[in-house]
Amino acid sequence: MTNYQNIVVLTGAGISAESGLSTFRGDDGLWENHRLEDVATPEAFRRDPELVHRFYNMRRANLGTVRPNPAHKALARLEQEHDGEVLVITQNIDDLHERGGSRNILHMHGELLKVHCRSCAEVFDWSGDIDETVECPDCGVIPSLRPHIVWFGEMPFCMYEIDEALRSCDLFVSIGTSGNVYPAAGFVAQVSAMGRARSIELNLEPSEGVSLFNEARQGPASKLVPEFVERLLAGEA
Ligand code: APR
Repeated sequence: MTNYQNIVVLTGAGISAESGLSTFRGDDGLWENHRLEDVATPEAFRRDPELVHRFYNMRRANLGTVRPNPAHKALARLEQEHDGEVLVITQNIDDLHERGGSRNILHMHGELLKVHCRSCAEVFDWSGDIDETVECPDCGVIPSLRPHIVWFGEMPFCMYEIDEALRSCDLFVSIGTSGNVYPAAGFVAQVSAMGRARSIELNLEPSEGVSLFNEARQGPASKLVPEFVERLLAGEA
């Protein structure tokens, strides 16, 4: 039995780091071997679609080699055992929360295992490669498909549901995100301004927004998150 009703958990690349997926701004940062502007913007896709397809095809194929870690599994346990709401809002495009057992997930930056058609906007589950020769399964246009991922300068997904969830939560937990990229980096300020929720950051190092949280703990997610969930479910957090 926890002391809360509606729990919102924001996750970033740090929660998947111990599963072997690179973060964005660490030393092994995912962008290291690709300039951000070359792969994660609409302009990059217009300029060199095949380079962008190759970048995401590589990341999509790599997903099969990684597994959820104890942090993903602990959040799934929280969702199963907490008798109120638990929503995971993730900036990650991997499927490790799903494979870890969570069900109530919003992928605000999209998903590697989805593509959408630039012509008819239909979204498809897609685990293989795409390129500019693949036709849309629905409207048949070629070229048509692009990663169903939010690039810099594009509007994140699910912002209405996210706003509703932030308004109604009484516990906001941020895990594995540097607080560099908005709007996610602004969620803690939004929750604090409403004055009804407690906010906690669990991160390897203090994020940009650490001072905005009621509480912050540093350490690896695979250690911190299971411990935190254990205490939360015992009514001790
Ligand atoms: N456990 C907990 N936290 C970790 C771990 C770990 N094992 N390893 C790294 N971290 C922390 C880092 O200290 C850092 O604060 O995770 C955070 C990762 O930050 P970023 O690399 O900036 O990733 P993220 O915050 O998810 O980036 C947000 O930026 O590039 C865009 O769209 C991309 O979704 C991404 C967004």
